[in-house]
Amino acid sequence: MLLLVYILILIRVTKQLSLPSDPTYFAGVVEFPNLEGSDRQHTALASEGYRAILESDQTNDLDIIVFPEYVLNNRETATFVPDPNDRMSPCISPDYEMFLVELSCAARSRKIYVVLNLKEKELCGPAYGNGSNTYNACPETGVRYFNTNVVLDREGRIISRYRKTHLWRHEYYKNEVLKQTDISYFDTDFGVTFGHFICFDMLFYEPAMQLVHEKNITDIIYPTYWFSELPFLTAVQLQEGWAFANNVNLLAADGSDPSGKTTGSGIYAGRAGRLAAGIFEEPTTRLITARVPKRRPGQPAYELPTVVQPIFQPQLISQRSTKLATFRDYNVDIFSSELLDIDFMNVSKTICHHDFCCDFNVQRNVIGFSSDHAAYRYRLAAYWGNETTFIRVDRSEQAVCALFACLDKELYSCGYTFPSTRQVANQLYFNSIKIRGSFATASRRLIMPSTLDGMMMPLSVAQYKWTETELSRETRVELELIQPKNDLLTFGIWANYFTKIPTLHNLDHMQPYRNQPQSSGTSNTSNANINDGSNTTPSVNNSTSTASAITSLCSLMAFCLMLQF
Ligand SMILES: *[C@@H]1O[C@H](CO)[C@@H](O)[C@H](O)[C@H]1NC(C)=O
Ligand SMILES: *[C@@H]1O[C@H](CO)[C@@H](O)[C@H](O)[C@H]1NC(C)=O
Ligand SMILES: *[C@@H]1O[C@H](CO)[C@@H](O)[C@H](O)[C@H]1NC(C)=O
Ligand SMILES: *[C@@H]1O[C@H](CO)[C@@H](O)[C@H](O)[C@H]1NC(C)=O
Ligand SMILES: *[C@@H]1O[C@H](CO)[C@@H](O)[C@H](O)[C@H]1NC(C)=O
Repeated sequence: MLLLVYILILIRVTKQLSLPSDPTYFAGVVEFPNLEGSDRQHTALASEGYRAILESDQTNDLDIIVFPEYVLNNRETATFVPDPNDRMSPCISPDYEMFLVELSCAARSRKIYVVLNLKEKELCGPAYGNGSNTYNACPETGVRYFNTNVVLDREGRIISRYRKTHLWRHEYYKNEVLKQTDISYFDTDFGVTFGHFICFDMLFYEPAMQLVHEKNITDIIYPTYWFSELPFLTAVQLQEGWAFANNVNLLAADGSDPSGKTTGSGIYAGRAGRLAAGIFEEPTTRLITARVPKRRPGQPAYELPTVVQPIFQPQLISQRSTKLATFRDYNVDIFSSELLDIDFMNVSKTICHHDFCCDFNVQRNVIGFSSDHAAYRYRLAAYWGNETTFIRVDRSEQAVCALFACLDKELYSCGYTFPSTRQVANQLYFNSIKIRGSFATASRRLIMPSTLDGMMMPLSVAQYKWTETELSRETRVELELIQPKNDLLTFGIWANYFTKIPTLHNLDHMQPYRNQPQSSGTSNTSNANINDGSNTTPSVNNSTSTASAITSLCSLMAFCLMLQF
């Protein structure tokens, strides 16, 4: 009895660190809301919230924890970040913003690797060797800002730093981009090397795909503040699809503001699917944890515990998520698509966009008809080309074979869901779906499954079969639904060909051919310094610079403000 008590106490107080020889490590990702308050209050509260999570019982055996993008600090509380090569611990040398010192001490106290995303500041005047090599010259203030991931080790030391490469819309006014993309990765004492990047970076080749293809990184850390878009780019759908396509582990932590389109975090094990993931209807603070199988070449894959699949039941009314706001993908308007009959049961079709063709076989069975309920219409679509964008921010080259939901027969009604006020019924369920396409071989290419149900979650890997066959100049991909499904919003193959066509974002400093830094104080309209609206130093050519024109235009539009971070 005494022995038992002793063992129990031992279990309670001894932290079980994973060893390099263990087949798994224990990871956590945190979904965290964007708190209210003044800039300083906001940061103090967020830091307090992070610390409460780090010091809770839930983190006892965690090896690594990841927090989301954007929600921790802001320009007012931007912090310097030491060079990771210096192995500096802010807990020992508190020369940084208070929150970073506190979180460094919390990491050390709890012996957990902690990944933070924060607003970093850097001095860039001549006295500081001009700072980093960015597209923009050093502003007159002598301070520049980055959207940065910082990794603390179990001693609270900063061991890795990554500065975001693909900024989102008006973020270009606030943050700098390095001319030489950061490729950041770090080793851990449990034998896993992690690479990391941020949010929108997931849709681009540099550095996300470089980590996987060139550095052979198998475990990726991903703080994000994602704006979900229907039908292909909602948060968990993209995270799971990206991890599946690359067959890597992915730890994704998202901000939480569902009415602002942001929520969806998870831990994914590549082709083995998600280990744990959630997308929420209300702002949520949630730690999601999982034991992640290590990927060691030459060693057998760790057997994940089998998940018992629920037995399929046809359901006229199924639960659906209605509080997550979403963007609409306007690319679908230029896809070749065909509307299916409202009560179709068996369809075999080939849809072509120019020379690119997709084969579809779809079968449904009747559940019941109800005249007072709305029902989704479905379209089959094919597209291959470079006239698409990623959420209307950057150009893209995509190839898509997909079935997706629409509110009615009009193409412009696709990419929306019925509001909570409408009762929606599954008058038929999907019995089987087969989609096939041939995707031209390319060195820069990622082909992923893109699936989504009414709860804004992708289908689990047990529900579909994915087959890739390499032919001489193309890869034949087949996606097959292998379990019946009541509700579907998206079921398709979505390929990213990582276009090299540049996007200028209407901002001079991002134009690749305009990389001669201007000495500060010189007025030149065609080479305008990008000045943030909140900057107290007046821009030298405020009245004419594109950036300030857009800033003032944006201040007229409430939705723009939301995007300006
Ligand atoms: C910093 O920039 C100035 C102006 O472009 C240049 O003259 C100087 O050599 C640079 N200093 C360093 C250390 O690169
Ligand atoms: C990555 O793996 C490939 C193939 O196994 C190998 O040729 C290459 O040297 C590796 N690269 C690194 C950076 O380890
Ligand atoms: C569906 O139609 C195809 C041909 O159009 C046919 O071969 C197949 O047997 C049909 N399947 C069912 C379940 O009716
Ligand atoms: C887009 O693709 C078309 C067709 O392959 C090609 O002719 C065109 O040059 C591409 N556009 C750009 C800007 O690369
Ligand atoms: C502004 O910069 C452009 C490109 O560097 C140059 O061609 C132009 O002469 C400059 N204009 C002024 C007014 O300095």
